Amino acid sequence: MDIFEKVINRPGPLGKYREQGEGYYMFPILEGELSNKMIFQGKERLIWSLNNYLGLGNHPEVRKADADAAKEWGMAYPMGARMMSGHTKYHVQLEEELAAFVGRESAYLLNYGYQGMVSIIDSMVDRKDVIVYDSEAHACILDGMRLHFGKRFVYPHNDIQNFEKELSRAKKITDQTGGGTLVITEGVYGMSGDLGKLKEICALKEKYEFRLLVDDAHGFGTMGATGAGTDEFLGVQDQVDLYFGTFAKAMAGIGAFVASKKEIISYLRYDMRSQIYAKSLPMPMVIGALKRLDMIRNSSEYKDKLWIIVNALQKGLKEKGFNLGNTESPVTPVVLSGSVPEATQLTYDLRENYNIFCSIIGYPVVPKGVLILRLIPTAVHTLEDVKYTVDAFTVIKERLEKGIYSKDQFKDVTGG
Ligand SMILES: Cc1ncc(COP(=O)(O)O)c(C=O)c1O
Repeated sequence: MDIFEKVINRPGPLGKYREQGEGYYMFPILEGELSNKMIFQGKERLIWSLNNYLGLGNHPEVRKADADAAKEWGMAYPMGARMMSGHTKYHVQLEEELAAFVGRESAYLLNYGYQGMVSIIDSMVDRKDVIVYDSEAHACILDGMRLHFGKRFVYPHNDIQNFEKELSRAKKITDQTGGGTLVITEGVYGMSGDLGKLKEICALKEKYEFRLLVDDAHGFGTMGATGAGTDEFLGVQDQVDLYFGTFAKAMAGIGAFVASKKEIISYLRYDMRSQIYAKSLPMPMVIGALKRLDMIRNSSEYKDKLWIIVNALQKGLKEKGFNLGNTESPVTPVVLSGSVPEATQLTYDLRENYNIFCSIIGYPVVPKGVLILRLIPTAVHTLEDVKYTVDAFTVIKERLEKGIYSKDQFKDVTGG
């Protein structure tokens, strides 16, 4: 069989919708300034789809720092991987400042969160070790585990009873192999917005002896008194052994980091393949990240603004009877019942008649019949945006419940 022929005939669970959805539902082009309002297909829309939590993406000071760094250093500098020729004092400075911010001894930069996570997992475990992980773990965690030759046990999302069962299965194996157990969870789950049960997980550490790796992509910068993350929020910073954060969300940049004890980071610097065999982060990313970190550390203004919007949005939606699942973070999932065709009609209605742009998640990502409209509030949204959105959602919910998005009725409503 020709490989090209195979992939053309088997486009995959998302690819199979590309004919109908590309450019509108998938790969939409958003234009204009990164903000609460952007242009989609020539019209201004209210955007609830960007992980620009703190609104730093287009902050003038951030833009200036990025531009100045690009002017001074270009995008090429430094050339090479960190270990060979891509190391600079600015990379080191950023690592020191990140470590101090998240309350750890040491940190190491990762070029991308995704690859970094794959590589951390690959480095930390060998065939004698067991991984225990949450069933809703992000794709980068699952891909890291694909490299693992030892056993792995999954527990249902945030189900601590089953988690303990898996820990005891892991212990039986590690007692035989002489290996250890690595537990992996997220701080904030990016789809549902609920938090990993870090306190309950940590409470089992003494009994089962394991190391805990937390992917806090959505919690870094948004959770905790200082924005240091979900473990700060839950008071377990000293028990999370490896803390992972990305710059791609609250920091509105690119790159990521892992923080831990000095000896562990020292080990990872010499072992993580994604960093040893890849070019180091370009200087504007590093200088830009230093600037963002500085802003986050020196002012709670951005986080405070974010939470004003989060609280107003979540309260407003709940008051109108919306089911937001168990979110305790800015991630705001609006859970509805409906089919995938209804989801597309509903999204179209929201976009074309209300100029509201948000992400919609349907089967196969969530069970059949469930639809999730995922809203990401940010510090650059306004309370008017919130009110407008809650009102619009109230109308589309009624339409969904009346079956207007099924059959051919939808066209009548929109006049389209
Ligand atoms: C939970 C989680 N982990 C890791 C990543 C990957 O981070 P990055 O975008 O820096 O590669 C993401 C981004 O989508 C994420 O949501």
